[in-house]
Amino acid sequence: NNIRYVKVADKKEGAEVVLERMRKELAGGLEVLGLATGSTMEPIYAAWASSDLDFSGVTSFNLDEYVGLEADNPNSYAWFMDHHLFSKKPFKETNIPDGTADNLKEECEEYEARLRDAGLDLQFLGVGENGHIAFNEPGTPFTSITHVTQLTDSTLGVNSQYFEDRSTIPETALTMGIASILSSKKIILVAFGEKKRHALNQLAKGEETTEFPVTALLRHPDVTIITDLDGIQP
Ligand code: GLP
Repeated sequence: NNIRYVKVADKKEGAEVVLERMRKELAGGLEVLGLATGSTMEPIYAAWASSDLDFSGVTSFNLDEYVGLEADNPNSYAWFMDHHLFSKKPFKETNIPDGTADNLKEECEEYEARLRDAGLDLQFLGVGENGHIAFNEPGTPFTSITHVTQLTDSTLGVNSQYFEDRSTIPETALTMGIASILSSKKIILVAFGEKKRHALNQLAKGEETTEFPVTALLRHPDVTIITDLDGIQP
């Protein structure tokens, strides 16, 4: 099987496991790192920020960004990354899709080109309750590259908890495609809590379906899943 499960007791132990894995990857010469946002990543970045890990030789690429949010908007992923990681740990270079670009299609093409040129060594992923990875919603082709996407009601509902109210959350976003994600040499998916059980159960079934984008990971050769959930290993 291509998927290795690492069962941890809780988020805290999850963050420790990820920290040690990052230490190994950096020692092994990692240069290009794919980063994710979301509450799942917060304890992980906190652990990196207070560690001795050195990212000054690393170029990062983030998965996604809301359309229309400026980098100084606390709900933008640019702000999230700066607040949780980049302001605390210097990187060689950081990349996040620009959701305020005049021409979003062009921004996506350029982002994909930069990403492919750099070549991802390792990509971190969270998973949405509906099985999305980055902002690749159910139905997105596994061949997709960086694109503009319409968020589903499920995602808008879950993610609007961070916004003032449902009417202020952007309904479109820029996201790496599923093929962009799969181009990474290695992938680590982190999922904590019962809300993620349904999505991980779909993966455990072992059948690829675009209805659950996370099942695209079945076609990748090197995936690690770090989770506190019991009973989701196939
Ligand atoms: C968002 C992001 C995803 C993330 C997911 C899970 O929709 N676009 O990249 O994986 O939410 O978020 P959380 O970690 O808060 O559960």
